[in-house]
Amino acid sequence: MPFPLLFIAIVSLFQFSIAGVAPEITTVQEGYNIIAKLPCLGCPFLVQDTSRGENESWTVRTDDNALLLNITLPYDSSYIELNGQRVWPAYSKLQKIYANQVVQDISDENLQAIISTGQLESSHETYSGGGYFGLSYSQSLRHIRNASAFIFQLDIIEIWSDLPPTPILHKLENPNQKMLELLLLQKPVMSALEPISSEIIKAELVSRGHHGKAQNKDQQVMHFLEWDSFGQKGTLTHYLSSWGSAMLNFLDSGIWALLAVIFGILLLFVLVCVICIFGCDFWQDDYSQAQHGKARGQRRRVRGDVEQGKVGFKSAEELGLLGRGRVVGLGKSD
Ligand SMILES: *[C@@H]1O[C@H](CO)[C@@H](O)[C@H](O)[C@H]1NC(C)=O
Ligand SMILES: *[C@@H]1O[C@H](CO)[C@@H](O)[C@H](O)[C@H]1NC(C)=O
Ligand SMILES: *[C@@H]1O[C@H](CO)[C@@H](O)[C@H](O)[C@H]1NC(C)=O
Repeated sequence: MPFPLLFIAIVSLFQFSIAGVAPEITTVQEGYNIIAKLPCLGCPFLVQDTSRGENESWTVRTDDNALLLNITLPYDSSYIELNGQRVWPAYSKLQKIYANQVVQDISDENLQAIISTGQLESSHETYSGGGYFGLSYSQSLRHIRNASAFIFQLDIIEIWSDLPPTPILHKLENPNQKMLELLLLQKPVMSALEPISSEIIKAELVSRGHHGKAQNKDQQVMHFLEWDSFGQKGTLTHYLSSWGSAMLNFLDSGIWALLAVIFGILLLFVLVCVICIFGCDFWQDDYSQAQHGKARGQRRRVRGDVEQGKVGFKSAEELGLLGRGRVVGLGKSD
């Protein structure tokens, strides 16, 4: 083969590998930002035919597809972000997270284009053409071997979308479904003022159950439809925060609302005062009545005992005591 031809062959081979299928893990920034292309086995693929206008409804097609997960680890703090939302540590409130869907054999070029526009997670709001899903997920973080390394696992268990006329819910139950696993290493702390931070040492897609099953205490499960912006529906936290925000909205609605609330608080205050004053009075009354009743009861008992004493069942001391009691009793009641 003449040299120029060989050269062209090599170049086109090189170009072919560049234009190949995007890898499962794309490192955007070593240690801090990766994009995972998680094959979604058996998942419905959402398409919108925009050839007849922007407003055509979404339909479901069968096609191998994948979800894009943007994992970032800010330099100076120890939390993990997934598609723009903090996933770990999550405390009591888990975030609702969306992921965009792409065909599984999306080319490296196309993925790079998506990455360079930085619109992986915002496209479900700005609408850039691809379908997206709300994620139900299970996540865990645990120490391994030594104290400075952690394993973070993120398993997508269900996806939901309301793009098609009837919302679809799909469980990722295929036994070959993979999950994302990150190996994180805590960076050595140079001074006490420095925040604890970590970096991503390794990211890969692994089969479920890799590294054994996480213990319940290390695991958090988020069911997309059970949560809203106030937290998990049906919990006290949810009730309180939605009530609080309803109150704030009411206050926001104008000066009359504000006045009504102030008036309400004053009224409540007055009511509490009134209850206190009269309530204490009642209580005192009850107390003195009770004392009085007790005294009367004692007197009655004393008289009965005296009658018994007369028959000679009581000791001398008791009789002495009772005698005194009798005098008092008689003196008072007569
Ligand atoms: C698009 O659809 C929405 C709701 O289905 C409708 O309110 C809106 O008018 C439509 N817009 C156009 C340009 O057809
Ligand atoms: C990934 O998330 C980070 C943090 O939210 C964001 O700055 C970045 O633009 C995202 N990348 C893409 C490709 O959307
Ligand atoms: C801790 O684990 C990390 C990652 O597995 C390894 O690189 C490091 O050498 C370990 N350190 C010690 C003290 O074992």
